[in-house]
Amino acid sequence: MPEVDESEKEKQFYTDIPAKSKPFFLKGCNSLDWGMKNRLSRIFNPRSGKTVMLAIDHGYFQGPTTGLERVDVTILPLLQYADTLMLTRGILRTIVPPTYDKGIVLRASGGPSILNELSNEQIAIDIDEAIRLNVSAMAVQVFIGGQFETQSVHNMTRLVDWGNRYGIPVLGVTAVGKEMARDAKYMRLASRIIAELGVTYVKTYYVPEDFDTVVASCPVPIVIAGGKKMPELDALAMAYNAIQDGASGVDMGRNIFQSESPVAMIKAIRKVVHDGVKPKEAYDFFLTEKSKARKG
Ligand code: R5P
Repeated sequence: MPEVDESEKEKQFYTDIPAKSKPFFLKGCNSLDWGMKNRLSRIFNPRSGKTVMLAIDHGYFQGPTTGLERVDVTILPLLQYADTLMLTRGILRTIVPPTYDKGIVLRASGGPSILNELSNEQIAIDIDEAIRLNVSAMAVQVFIGGQFETQSVHNMTRLVDWGNRYGIPVLGVTAVGKEMARDAKYMRLASRIIAELGVTYVKTYYVPEDFDTVVASCPVPIVIAGGKKMPELDALAMAYNAIQDGASGVDMGRNIFQSESPVAMIKAIRKVVHDGVKPKEAYDFFLTEKSKARKG
């Protein structure tokens, strides 16, 4: 038992100082519980309100993707530059050191490989497993307009229910099928449906026209996927434009780990996302870092 409070020091109640009540820094997240907000703060940097998520989960449907053949060799050196790592439990357990202390976004849906109908996914983890792995969020593909649209929406809503029970955010990923249009109209539809049905934040592809309307009509934060590998300057420009249009960050994979210099690229992406550096300046920084990495 603690001793009785016998301090001779006069008690201070600071009755003249009103208790602070600061709104949470992320859009649409103010009424979430403490644990959920704490986990989101391990994904999004509270200073900038943005995130650079490094996506390396591609193997869950396409096997040893170029750049991810040996995650231990190619990806571990990048971890210090990412705010969060998005990956499968298989790679997490086998390769990522448990001393890693930033956010983990765990791939929580799966099933079909690239040899089959991709929208036919199911939930691929149990909530106990997400808790055991101490993850900051669970990610689920949602195939709006796809063959197994309803099934994928139900995967998402079940994960949202589990996540809400234990304070784990859910990232809803708008999964664009091969034949689906990648335009603002589709992204608005998909992002809004996913947000309405309860996810904590949304991942979409960037579209050059009217992306600001996708962000504006989605009540929760949006991050963009990187998509297919493109020249570094183009990828930096895409990230810049998305941030200017209101995105809360990137969840980028191939444009980082398939770059000629992945370390230089992730550092340049950080400049764009967290500091608002313009694409040309970020590209010059990339070139300098690339040549330093070569010499080193
Ligand atoms: C796709 O479904 C994967 O889950 C990736 O996480 C996502 O596409 C982001 O990676 P990338 O920037 O390579 O498109």
